[in-house]
Amino acid sequence: MARVLLGITGGIAAYKACELARLLVKAGHDVVPVPTPRAESFVSRETFEALARHRAPAELYPHLEEADLLVIAPLSANTLAKLAVGAADNVLTQLALAYRGPTLVAPAMNTRMWEHPAARANVKTLRERGVQIVGPEHGDLAEGEVGTGRMSEPAAVFERAVELLAHSSCAALHGRRVLVTAGGTREPIDSVRFIANRSSGRMGVAIAAEAQRRGAAVALIGANLAVPPPSGVELVEVESAAELARETESRADADVIVMAAAVADYRPAASLEHKRAKGVAIWQLELEPTDDILCRLGERRRKGQVVVGFAANEGEGGLAAAREKRTAKRTTLMVFNDISRDDVGFDSTHNELVIIGDGGERPVGRRTKEECAVAILDEVTALLGSR
Ligand code: CTP
Repeated sequence: MARVLLGITGGIAAYKACELARLLVKAGHDVVPVPTPRAESFVSRETFEALARHRAPAELYPHLEEADLLVIAPLSANTLAKLAVGAADNVLTQLALAYRGPTLVAPAMNTRMWEHPAARANVKTLRERGVQIVGPEHGDLAEGEVGTGRMSEPAAVFERAVELLAHSSCAALHGRRVLVTAGGTREPIDSVRFIANRSSGRMGVAIAAEAQRRGAAVALIGANLAVPPPSGVELVEVESAAELARETESRADADVIVMAAAVADYRPAASLEHKRAKGVAIWQLELEPTDDILCRLGERRRKGQVVVGFAANEGEGGLAAAREKRTAKRTTLMVFNDISRDDVGFDSTHNELVIIGDGGERPVGRRTKEECAVAILDEVTALLGSR
């Protein structure tokens, strides 16, 4: 059983917090409702107290800061702004400022408010602090409009809350910034053709999702992902190796960088602006090497920063090459995966790895990429803890 602080702010979606309180209580958690004064004009304090079987605090008691999770659902535009600047004008905002554990918020507001640069900036601030965000969804809004701004359904918020609680050991990454690259780059030949590779992005996406579950603020640089990105992470979509390099380097101060993307080693020396018409003559392409991003990150790796590279190669010789690659690229960890088999690796749901680090090597037998992500982040978390 965990202690969950359930903040409720003013808005028509406050009624959804009733169902969320009920689900959390049913799952055996100790729920403390913390409605703002505005929330009480939508649903009475007594309703929340009855559902949570707990009194709502009238002032900030120190023991409240000991909770396992703070959930604010719905989160209004007003309280979002207060959280971003650290205002403390009611019990909920005081609590949010004093609390140091994992926080999950479910925004609910009018589409134009949600899209306003001020709200965007506030969301970004929260995300950078490691606050987990669920929704809002697209759909009917209170004023008869349709757009993005609806609070996620209570079941979806509950599910995220349960995930965060299950990994509360993993709140170890709370306050850490994790940058993950995933997918395969495309190098243009002309306006319609490109050189690509078979990477689906599944491994990197699984790592981003796992880092997020452990409470990190995650930025995912996705190169042509064939799988959906996890919700709640900052997604930056790129196509080519050059774009991936630019976006990665501008975020290279993250605490952890995982280079899971399959970055092209070569690109056409010149790409044609228009589509080349078919002809009978041989078309010879000249390829030039791309910059090795991982190498540059390794060179500039600061003390305490964890940089993880991937080495896709074949068999025992491949493992030896991966060890050398770790030294050459000065990465903290190098994850070797054997691409000679077709039941693991590229474009597969499973992987089989050897995680190579200073402290030795950890073989990870064939398992799902989600399970592999857990193993990789266990190593990363241990390294951060020891620094
Ligand atoms: N990488 C990179 N920039 C590149 C190419 C690769 O950052 N231009 C990263 C990949 O994201 C991956 C690692 O470097 O983490 C892979 O290293 P690489 O030298 O490309 O090795 P492999 O592709 O595994 O093997 P090979 O040596 O045969 O190219």
